[in-house]
Amino acid sequence: MSEVIRDYNELARWLSARGRKSLFVVCGNSFASIAPGRFIDCLAAVGFKITYFRDFTPNPDHSSVDKGIEAFKECGADTIIGGGGGSAMDVAKAIKFEGQLNVPFVAIPTTAGTGSEATRFAVIYKDGTKTSLTSDVMLPDAVLLDPSVLENLPEYQKKATMSDAVCHAVESAWSSATCEESRAFSYSALDKIFANYKSYLAGDEQTFGVMLDAAYEAGEAINITKTTGGHALCYKLTTMYGISHGHAALLCVRALWNYMEGRTDNLEFVSRYKEQFDEYFRYLDLAKPDIPEEDYGILADSVNTERLSNNPAALTREDIVTVYRNL
Ligand SMILES: [Fe+2]
Repeated sequence: MSEVIRDYNELARWLSARGRKSLFVVCGNSFASIAPGRFIDCLAAVGFKITYFRDFTPNPDHSSVDKGIEAFKECGADTIIGGGGGSAMDVAKAIKFEGQLNVPFVAIPTTAGTGSEATRFAVIYKDGTKTSLTSDVMLPDAVLLDPSVLENLPEYQKKATMSDAVCHAVESAWSSATCEESRAFSYSALDKIFANYKSYLAGDEQTFGVMLDAAYEAGEAINITKTTGGHALCYKLTTMYGISHGHAALLCVRALWNYMEGRTDNLEFVSRYKEQFDEYFRYLDLAKPDIPEEDYGILADSVNTERLSNNPAALTREDIVTVYRNL
């Protein structure tokens, strides 16, 4: 498990104790203007060498990983830092894994939701096709959780990223691979989110740390079980209709949950959350995209069957179309 750090001085000590002096920082453009970016500037002022790598897009392509490996080797850094939401983190992980770089990896999430800071997975696109990398090598050595990063997150991003965490927790709990340890993470994440989402969306700073913890725990849950039907069905909604990943996942999990009632016993693990989940769903009020009739077949053909095999209820192609219709 990664070391969780909640204070910048502690992270500076963590780096110094390991003799680290040259940081390769994979981050988005907005990273510089928030607290972790300013911290990196402070490290530069006290003699750390900093190399930024920002040459990637959302849904990162493999060519970015290759460029990152080259840039890392050129600058001779001794540590990788991934600062951002899912994409920056995944690129940082893939650079470490595919470049076979034996250096510490520090994750600094700037949203509360993807859980990427807690998992051994990275999603990278090769020639437009989504591929998942899996290796314990990509687990961060340290994770810095700073609640202040959530201060200026727009409302839709808050809703979407928080819903991503809800889906991780629910899908993990009803997964065929669920176990006592993963359920403990799932339930703890759901308890935190369902008790705090209204205050969080209203901007209550007291909830920011709680949401970061919840997203991290939901990430721990899927690190054990992987995701299931919701994530298998949601990816194409993002690419075809431009809605955020967490938004798409929430629509799919809700439609699947209703569909699976009576079809599997695994739901008993999460059934105690059904009422709170429905209330959450109504409160967030995230719209279903307009899906033209001819798209249902395309959507059904896009579903990742490996992820679906982890789903408690087997789904035929016809079932999948039904679930999409019931989003
Ligand atoms: Fe997700």
